[in-house]
Amino acid sequence: MSDKKTILSLMQPSGDATLGNYLGALKNWQKLEDEFNCIYAIADLHTLTVRQDPAQLRKNSMQVLALFLAMGLNKGDNIVFAQSHVSAHAELGWVLDCFTYTGELSRMTQFKDKSARHADNINAGLFTYPCLMAADILLYQADMVPVGEDQRQHLEITRDIAERFNNIYGDVFKVPEAYIGKAGARVMGLQEPTRKMSKSESANANNVILLSDDLNQIANKIKRAVTDSDSVVKASPDKPGITNLLSIYCAVTGKTLEEAEGEFVGVGYGAFKAAVAEAVVEELRPVKEEYERILKDKAYINSVIKDGAERAGRIAYRTLGKVYKKVGLIPPVR
Ligand code: TRP
Repeated sequence: MSDKKTILSLMQPSGDATLGNYLGALKNWQKLEDEFNCIYAIADLHTLTVRQDPAQLRKNSMQVLALFLAMGLNKGDNIVFAQSHVSAHAELGWVLDCFTYTGELSRMTQFKDKSARHADNINAGLFTYPCLMAADILLYQADMVPVGEDQRQHLEITRDIAERFNNIYGDVFKVPEAYIGKAGARVMGLQEPTRKMSKSESANANNVILLSDDLNQIANKIKRAVTDSDSVVKASPDKPGITNLLSIYCAVTGKTLEEAEGEFVGVGYGAFKAAVAEAVVEELRPVKEEYERILKDKAYINSVIKDGAERAGRIAYRTLGKVYKKVGLIPPVR
């Protein structure tokens, strides 16, 4: 790897790939290739904290990987792989479990939320989820992690764990920083615009735009999106529906909020939604074509993630070896 800084992020394949994944994260990851060594993976181990249908999980994993490749996230020196293919993640995760306090973990808002929503399955993995995430990051000595608002706290605890470990054993881990993307849209549900657009958390198909939806369906879902009571196209906290559509529009067109609002002065909601639909459809048309093509080419996806796991493994096992030595595990007898 070159002497560029390392940036790393993982995405859970916990549902079909959505417009939220695309605009909220992947479109930003795509821009980082020149400036950073980029490491991207699917966080498939993390999905097991919530009960998954095995066939569906495999399908979702291939879909998210196909989307990564359709967007060119594996270009140049970038590394793309599956978390579960590099066992160092689970192994370092265990060590970090032993350097993280239960009190810290019980303060994580995501743990509290998910425990409330999955009250019948509050498993130990859900609780130690941030330790596995810390392992994902620290194994690669990542400088930067692009994370959405909902993962900020997990990055904070990663930093705490790294500093704690370094204080005891010397400089083993790089302490990572949050990378704040330029136009990282937080895409909310089209029917429930106060909650993140998420397939796994939503029963209403019109709430979520899937990359596998056809272009007509996508346009119709946007045209059916809930709006707010007046008819002014302006972002504001009491207009979550319009705010969400505006931020989708800006993320797709690269326009600022002011520009977008200016464009729709005096325009009714119907025409506004039609404009958003058109912009999203034109944005997704080429990505979807590439995505559908790659999704059929399992051999290609497999070859990319095989190579990715090998290259990731070389970095990860070096860090894991150092950690094992520092904590006093005897070297394996060969
Ligand atoms: N927890 C993240 C999410 O749900 C996914 C994730 C796992 C991740 N490991 C990571 C993100 C490491 C950034 C870095 O969105």
